[in-house]
Amino acid sequence: MSGQFGAELPRGARETGLFVHISLGLAILGFVMARLAWRAADPVPAPVDSPLGLWGERAGQAVHYMLYALLIAVPIAGIVVQFAKGHALRIFGLFEIVSPWTADRAFGRDTREVHDLLANGTMTLIGLHAAAALVHHYIFRDRALLRMLPCSRS
Ligand code: HEM
Ligand code: HEM
Repeated sequence: MSGQFGAELPRGARETGLFVHISLGLAILGFVMARLAWRAADPVPAPVDSPLGLWGERAGQAVHYMLYALLIAVPIAGIVVQFAKGHALRIFGLFEIVSPWTADRAFGRDTREVHDLLANGTMTLIGLHAAAALVHHYIFRDRALLRMLPCSRS
């Protein structure tokens, strides 16, 4: 994705958009940390058997780990972009953390590229992941998707 975030919007709308963007990104970061703590306390079940065998299981697990890594890396890169621009980080409008750095245009642009690239990588992986879930359900006809439902344990 190229160009500035919401560059075509009026200034006020752009600021609000970025505030919502940052708040959602920080919420994602919080949820992922909470999920990882939950996962450590209550480990995930073994992968379902599939015609792809051990390599299929490993590939699925690798995608899950990459999703977790990206869901942490993207918001952190976003925070770096905000600080690189010399802007404060508003935490849900409750308080703000001032940038530890003075504004640096080139650093801001470079880190935004990284943030953007990682975000696009995340979207690609999500697409792959959702497609894999559908393959499990409709082609392999196993319980990988169904066992995600809360009532499926009984
Ligand atoms: C999973 C969460 C997030 C996703 C998927 C995401 C995605 C994106 C994307 C696609 C852009 C546009 C990049 C471009 O200019 O081409 C962007 C811009 C930006 N994001 Fe995020 N972001 C996330 C979280 C965050 C967080 C937590 C912050 C915290 C500060 C943040 C700060 C920014 C900033 C400052 C920009 C640049 C705005 C500008 O150009 O002025 N993002 N983000
Ligand atoms: C159409 C949307 C989606 C479907 C159908 C779907 C389906 C699934 C299924 C069936 C599993 C369980 C795999 C297993 O039992 O071994 C799973 C796990 C997972 N999904 Fe999704 N998913 C979707 C969207 C997403 C999105 C948007 C994200 C993150 C941005 C995500 C992240 C993950 C992660 C990280 C795991 C691994 C959980 C763990 O092992 O702790 N999924 N997904």
